[in-house]
Amino acid sequence: MAISKAMIVFPLLCFLFSTISTLSHPNTLVCNKTEKRALLSFKHALFDPAHSLSSWSTHEDCCGWNGVYCHNITGRVIKLDLTNPGSSNFSLGGKVSHVLLQLEFLNYLDLSWNDFEGTPIPSFLGSMRSLTYLDLSYASFGGPIPPQLGNLSNLQHLDLGGGYSFYEPQLYVENLGWITHLSSLEYLSMSEVDLQREVHWLESTSMLSSLSELYLYACELNNMSPSLGYVNFTSLTVLALGLNNFNHEIPNWLFNLSTSRTPLNVLYLPSNQLTGQIPEYLGNLSSLTRLLLYGNRLNGTLPSSLWLLSNLELLFIGNNSLAGTISEVHFNKLSKLKTLDMSSTSLIFKVKSNWVPPFQLEEMWMSSCQMGPNFPTWLETQTSLRYLDISKSGIVDIAPKWFWKWASHIDRLIDLSDNQISGNLSGVLLNNTKIYLSSNCFMGELPRLSPQVSVLDMANNSFSGPISPFLCQKLNGKSNLQTLDMSTNSLSGELSHCWTYWQSLTHLNLGNNNLSGKIPGSMGSLFELEALHLHNNSLSGDIPPSLRNCTSLGLLDLGGNKLSGNLPSWMGETTTLKALRLRSNKLIGNIPPQICQLSSLIILDVANNSLSGTIPKCFNNFSLMATTGTEDDAFSFLELFSFMRKDYENLMLIIKGRESEYGSILKFVRSIDLSSNNLSGSIPTKISSLSRLEFLNLSCNNLMGSIPEKIGRMEALESLDLSRNHLSGEIPPSMTNLSFLSHLNLSYNNFSGRIPSSTQLQTFDAFSYIGNAELCGAPLTKNCTEGEDFQGIDVIDENEEGSEIPWFYIGMGLGFIVGFWGVCVALLFKKAWRHAYFQFLYRVKDWVYVAIAIRLNRLQNNLRVSETHHHLINFCFI
Ligand SMILES: *[C@@H]1O[C@H](CO)[C@@H](O)[C@H](O)[C@H]1NC(C)=O
Ligand SMILES: *[C@@H]1O[C@H](CO)[C@@H](O)[C@H](O)[C@H]1NC(C)=O
Ligand SMILES: *[C@@H]1O[C@H](CO)[C@@H](O)[C@H](O)[C@H]1NC(C)=O
Ligand SMILES: *[C@@H]1O[C@H](CO)[C@@H](O)[C@H](O)[C@H]1NC(C)=O
Ligand SMILES: *[C@@H]1O[C@H](CO)[C@@H](O)[C@H](O)[C@H]1NC(C)=O
Ligand SMILES: *[C@@H]1O[C@H](CO)[C@@H](O)[C@H](O)[C@H]1NC(C)=O
Ligand SMILES: *[C@@H]1O[C@H](CO)[C@@H](O)[C@H](O)[C@H]1NC(C)=O
Ligand SMILES: *[C@@H]1O[C@H](CO)[C@@H](O)[C@H](O)[C@H]1NC(C)=O
Ligand SMILES: *[C@@H]1O[C@H](CO)[C@@H](O)[C@H](O)[C@H]1NC(C)=O
Ligand SMILES: *[C@@H]1O[C@H](CO)[C@@H](O)[C@H](O)[C@H]1NC(C)=O
Repeated sequence: MAISKAMIVFPLLCFLFSTISTLSHPNTLVCNKTEKRALLSFKHALFDPAHSLSSWSTHEDCCGWNGVYCHNITGRVIKLDLTNPGSSNFSLGGKVSHVLLQLEFLNYLDLSWNDFEGTPIPSFLGSMRSLTYLDLSYASFGGPIPPQLGNLSNLQHLDLGGGYSFYEPQLYVENLGWITHLSSLEYLSMSEVDLQREVHWLESTSMLSSLSELYLYACELNNMSPSLGYVNFTSLTVLALGLNNFNHEIPNWLFNLSTSRTPLNVLYLPSNQLTGQIPEYLGNLSSLTRLLLYGNRLNGTLPSSLWLLSNLELLFIGNNSLAGTISEVHFNKLSKLKTLDMSSTSLIFKVKSNWVPPFQLEEMWMSSCQMGPNFPTWLETQTSLRYLDISKSGIVDIAPKWFWKWASHIDRLIDLSDNQISGNLSGVLLNNTKIYLSSNCFMGELPRLSPQVSVLDMANNSFSGPISPFLCQKLNGKSNLQTLDMSTNSLSGELSHCWTYWQSLTHLNLGNNNLSGKIPGSMGSLFELEALHLHNNSLSGDIPPSLRNCTSLGLLDLGGNKLSGNLPSWMGETTTLKALRLRSNKLIGNIPPQICQLSSLIILDVANNSLSGTIPKCFNNFSLMATTGTEDDAFSFLELFSFMRKDYENLMLIIKGRESEYGSILKFVRSIDLSSNNLSGSIPTKISSLSRLEFLNLSCNNLMGSIPEKIGRMEALESLDLSRNHLSGEIPPSMTNLSFLSHLNLSYNNFSGRIPSSTQLQTFDAFSYIGNAELCGAPLTKNCTEGEDFQGIDVIDENEEGSEIPWFYIGMGLGFIVGFWGVCVALLFKKAWRHAYFQFLYRVKDWVYVAIAIRLNRLQNNLRVSETHHHLINFCFI
């Protein structure tokens, strides 16, 4: 959870810093008494829980107050900077009082990153004629933007960005006509403000003859073509219109911007749905330094004029349908290029192996762009690289001898995954912060690591030999390794006792190897561990009690080993546990009732062991499987979105009879699998309160008794397998309520009576019911006799407590939900999370993340995104 730590620490540092800097504020001026009184009553109307404005009471001179700046001669207040540099804990709120009007010389007002709880932007601000700088971004203002702001004719900088809010409605504009009066405006941002009602947004903004920078990200804009036929920008240097809904060709007026007073040099149009080819006119914009067209539907070949843009430093054209072959001649003039992105296109990058490019790249993003089959040896000329992503680029070759030594200077990221690159890494020292080598043909013994490595993914290669030399290697300092994935290789031997060397590990995956011996007690020293996968090895012995020391553990997968002994009752203490998979071992004894203390558990898979006794009656304590609407409590927002990072967890689950890997959506799965054990007794009736459980498999046990009467309350159930037990009685009529059920197996029990009729239960074929001699009615061929009919069908009332249809399913149409769309949709509609997440993203200026988030928002490709996202992970400062 490196990100979350940084998120807390960084703002905190900023806060401390700003506090210190105010202490050294020049304190020679004495402020105007009227203004001091005005400021105090301004403060009085504010809500200041963190006492950020405490200096406003203690200091005599208001010119020395935190955030207050006075003119150095007149002593009049000219600047009020109340931006919140820290976390939301330091937010100001309450009322923005009109006493501000008494500060008649105020020219700078910054209230950004506070929380005004969806209240409107006060219209009196339009009367503060001396303002030249106004920043109200990310302050959770809501509703219509007051047209009175159009009176601020001296305004040079206006930032109203960050309209997505916890509160409804978000900031919006019906008519942007007022903006044309801001004749001094040089900088305008209205990102995330809803502008979809204003079709003339382009004409209005383009009337601003001084406007140099325009940011309209995520404004729900639909059309970039001028509705009135002309576009009149004269000073534009930065145009940023990403994350809108433009679904037409790139309009030609853009290329007129070359003739404006300062010609356009930054053009950001990522994550729209722009179509057609990139026009040849692009070459007109000869001053362009940054071109970002990532994530559109642009097709055809690149225009030849692109390669004449000799000032280009950043070229981001990935994730489009671009085709054609790029060769070394194309780059002849691009000597300033530092960032190159052609990822996820059909471009073929074909250069001579001895090419010496005119540029020195810092970032190279070429994932899913054809570079192979030969290894790009020209890379050796690049000595400034910080990010290198050539994953999925069709390379079938041996990594050259110089490669690893050369690569050790790439400090941030190196991603070679999903190629067929071979080479022996024995003795190599890896020295990058993030290293992805998965799904290649690397072999030999494991490499050595420098302490700075924080992510190492070598899964799915052919590494072999004992694992302990790697684990017990002498490090040149304290390791920063957080994520280690060496799954699906041929590693052997015992897990060593050297785990104390790796105490920063949060995610560890050694599954699918040939590891043997016991799980060492020293793994209990991995106090930060959040996920531990040791599945599909030959580990034996008990589950070591020291694992109870891993108090952050959220996922534990020890399935497919030879572990013996009991399912330990101390597991009930690891209350952070969300997923527990112990299937296919040799565990014996009861399922301890203490397991019900795991109230965050969403996946419990202990199938295929030799567990006996009864199913604990307390399963209803798994509250995340039971209650609706607790997602917010369960996951911090970063965690909720962590599937957008490479480091998301995955787990093999057997669901609906098929084994599949659950990755990005794992946190939304709710599953209990106790199948293939020796469990006896009846199915606890309280299990029916698990209304969010999606998958329940109790098959192949010795269960007796009947199906709980109220099973119809488990309305999220998609798969129910009770086959091969000794269950009896009638199928409860409430089962007809299970409208999402797409897999049902009740076969080989002693059920009797008529199969209740519903659209659902009859869609399953007879195999779902066979082996129950006394069962009758469709889809079985056996007709019911008179006596087997029900006496009045007793379907649970729709309005009965706990039985309402989960709201996020509404509007999804009938039929079965495939691929957990439901939960994805739930996430997308949780505006609060979205806002919190976006705030974080905007802070780090990680536009590509935002792009993905918004794409999710549009319900497009949301599952695919999570597979490709990690290539974008380090675009933080584009
Ligand atoms: C202080 O401000 C008030 C109100 O703007 C003004 O009338 C007064 O003259 C100022 N006093 C001084 C000493 O500048
Ligand atoms: C006052 O501020 C102005 C502009 O910031 C600066 O040019 C000037 O030197 C300052 N005067 C004094 C006395 O500090
Ligand atoms: C913010 O407040 C919450 C609860 O009051 C607290 O748990 C958290 O640590 C605080 N965060 C910071 C950065 O102070
Ligand atoms: C400010 O703008 C509003 C609306 O555009 C207008 O009605 C008003 O007359 C303007 N002047 C002042 C001083 O508010
Ligand atoms: C672009 O410039 C040309 C020639 O200067 C002009 O005729 C045309 O109207 C302009 N296009 C737009 C959309 O402003
Ligand atoms: C475009 O801008 C120019 C110069 O500012 C001005 O003369 C002209 O009238 C404007 N055209 C339109 C249609 O607004
Ligand atoms: C590009 O896409 C458009 C539709 O958006 C299609 O009409 C055109 O033929 C495509 N061009 C190429 C070169 O694929
Ligand atoms: C490892 O990386 C660091 C930082 O990027 C660099 O200073 C150092 O020289 C590298 N070490 C080796 C052995 O390449
Ligand atoms: C770890 O767990 C073991 C066994 O439960 C215990 O004896 C030991 O004291 C624990 N170590 C720490 C550091 O908590
Ligand atoms: C079952 O009933 C249907 C109609 O009620 C009848 O057509 C069919 O022949 C019966 N089948 C058997 C096996 O009795």
